[in-house]
Amino acid sequence: MSFVEFMEISLYHDDYGYYTEPFSRVIGRPGDFYTSVSVGATFGFLLAHAFRSAWQGEFGGAGRPVIVEQGAHDGRLARDVMSGLRAIDPVFAGDVVYRIIEPRPAVRAALEERLARDPEGRGIEVVGDVAAAKASCGLFLCNELLDAFPVHCLVYLEGEWHERCVGLNGSGDGLAWVSRSLPEPLRPFAAELGHGFCDGYHTEVALSVDHWMAENATLFEEKGIWWIIDYGYERVDYYAPSRRTGTLRCYQGHRASEDPFASPGRQDITAHLDFTRLEEAAVRSGLKRSRFTDQHHFLIDAARPWLLSLEGQVPDAATAKRLRQFQTLTHPSLMGQQFKVMELRI
Ligand SMILES: C[S@@+](CC[C@H](N)C(=O)[O-])C[C@H]1O[C@@H](n2cnc3c(N)ncnc32)[C@H](O)[C@@H]1O
Repeated sequence: MSFVEFMEISLYHDDYGYYTEPFSRVIGRPGDFYTSVSVGATFGFLLAHAFRSAWQGEFGGAGRPVIVEQGAHDGRLARDVMSGLRAIDPVFAGDVVYRIIEPRPAVRAALEERLARDPEGRGIEVVGDVAAAKASCGLFLCNELLDAFPVHCLVYLEGEWHERCVGLNGSGDGLAWVSRSLPEPLRPFAAELGHGFCDGYHTEVALSVDHWMAENATLFEEKGIWWIIDYGYERVDYYAPSRRTGTLRCYQGHRASEDPFASPGRQDITAHLDFTRLEEAAVRSGLKRSRFTDQHHFLIDAARPWLLSLEGQVPDAATAKRLRQFQTLTHPSLMGQQFKVMELRI
């Protein structure tokens, strides 16, 4: 079996997939890993600030403000953005439509049910695909979506690229890596990587990013902004000869490992995003990159009006908490440098 099939089943199998039950798989302290969303409501609050100023500065008179998110998991970021908007500008917030794209029917039903019971779920809709989320103008947003896309794995052996696949181990009672000759869809990518890697060098590629970007680029007809937030590298760093063991990682109970076969369906499996691949797919789809920065710079920019409003005040307990979360999100040695933001526009 190819690794891409194994990862698809491990993460998204209807009954046993790691991401099949978003409300039992906890992201954050009691779960397997942290995301910027799980740090607290500050991430959504700052994105709300950035969205409002982008909308008012660039989308003047463009009708109802629309935000589309994919990879929303349990809907927490959607709730944080909406409550951030309500705190900043209740009239503007009242106009905003927030659409989550969730293609899996069971996850969609669970999300809809949870949002309907939650007063902070006001204004948030859940739809099944890009076609149902379309608008003439709007913002698309995703945090750590593309690092969860199943990847193909490749290995360089005796001067040739091979596909790294999943087979049985020597005793036949577990799974192990096996290699086979490259299938057709991976050949152009391997040719582009070229040669000169050490024996056993292995890496990965998410080919599905191309199709995803092409479809997603059709979301907005007239004017759109995309904020794609994730960890990853530009191609020159991703496939550097020195990165001998790629970026595939597994997380369980906040412990990282490189063994995806240890407990399929019970651990997260992820790979960094190749931002160059994303940008190339965006350009082919008629979008252009307007910004590529790290989370540190992106959020400091977004936070400016909030930080100015605090000047000269002694922070109360809620503000002090928000400032602590802000530091975690932006500090270069915490989440500020690891996470990148690619901004695309029509
Ligand atoms: C690493 S989690 C990030 C969750 C959340 N955005 C956060 O930052 O806390 C990745 C999420 O993307 C979801 N996902 C993966 N592929 C998806 C797709 N094609 N459409 C919608 N969600 C998807 C997974 O189910 C999972 O909830």
